Amino acid sequence: MTKKIAVIVGSLRKDSFNKKLALALAELGRDILTLEVTPLEDVPLYNQDLDADPPASVLRMKKAAAEADGVLFVTPEYNRGIPAVLKNAIDWGSRPTGKGVWTGKPAAIAGISPGVIGTAVAQAQLRPILVMLGMKLMGQPEVYISGAPGYFDATGCVAEEKNRKYLRNFLERFAEWIG
Ligand SMILES: Cc1cc2nc3c(=O)[nH]c(=O)nc-3n(C[C@H](O)[C@H](O)[C@H](O)COP(=O)(O)O)c2cc1C
Repeated sequence: MTKKIAVIVGSLRKDSFNKKLALALAELGRDILTLEVTPLEDVPLYNQDLDADPPASVLRMKKAAAEADGVLFVTPEYNRGIPAVLKNAIDWGSRPTGKGVWTGKPAAIAGISPGVIGTAVAQAQLRPILVMLGMKLMGQPEVYISGAPGYFDATGCVAEEKNRKYLRNFLERFAEWIG
């Protein structure tokens, strides 16, 4: 049986390039990993007052992560940092203390942007957060994708063979990383 991966996408945008990347990765690695995007649309802003009785959307998100063999973060960069949507999901998943879902989970990061730096700054910010949470974060290969609009074809598939190969290798390495 293939390993189950909870995919946390840091964009809620309908036509999100990062959502497309997550779906393309799911397709490219379907024989080795089962990637499922965790819905975040209805996850409210984190509020510590709700720790004792979290909303259903949060419980659903935490369950998906808890039951997964690994977590893949696919994120845009907002103002040289990680989007609030992503940080919010991470904060919910980390609480209450001792009942977080991230600790010990193998993790990897990917991101795509229309701009030239391909989410590198956001990913650099995300790394220490995931390490601090006790995730087993894969260091290589890194996935910084720029030039987003031309990266996919009209059907949402990764257009170029060399890019498909790169992503396939990333997925194979992540599967090995999970063990
Ligand atoms: C609030 C905001 C801030 C942004 N800041 C950056 C940035 O710092 N670096 C960058 O490469 N792109 C930045 N962008 C452009 C995003 O890369 C672009 O909107 C991208 O399509 C967002 O990802 P998505 O397609 O998955 O929604 C920003 C976009 C928004 C809406």
